[in-house]
Amino acid sequence: MCLGNICRSPMAEGLFNAKIEKSGLGDSIKSDSAGTSTYHLGKQPDPRTLETLKKHGIIHHHRGRQVDFDDANRFDYIIAMDQYNFQDLKYMIPNGFKGLFLMRNFDHMEKGADVPDPYYGDPDGFEGVYRILDRSLDGLIRYIRDNHNL
Ligand code: 4NP
Repeated sequence: MCLGNICRSPMAEGLFNAKIEKSGLGDSIKSDSAGTSTYHLGKQPDPRTLETLKKHGIIHHHRGRQVDFDDANRFDYIIAMDQYNFQDLKYMIPNGFKGLFLMRNFDHMEKGADVPDPYYGDPDGFEGVYRILDRSLDGLIRYIRDNHNL
């Protein structure tokens, strides 16, 4: 989850799916991404997101959507990109949902920091986000495997 669902969360989803496929877990784990806002509903990811993924060999298709209450029933985990999204999400999903985490809770290099919003920055920001997600998603996947015996 991020704010617009066109930069960070679709990048995370594309990279997560690639990692899951590579490790043979594609049939066991499903993912989706969404935003807390309605700014970019139905839109394709930002071209800089798609470029960055492509540079790393990943083709990803997604249309912007807003998180909804039912996501907490459909998914075991909802992962927020920053503290701002994390706080918003608390009001957007049912009370008591146990699977809400910050993405960088799983980043061994800077645990608990925000994934910075690259939208208003230069293209380098997207590569920086990719590197953060690469590390964090490895941690997240390890956590999921341990918790679900995969
Ligand atoms: P994202 O980035 O939350 O990573 O998708 C943003 C995209 C758009 C906007 C803000 C952040 N916006 O204000 O339109």
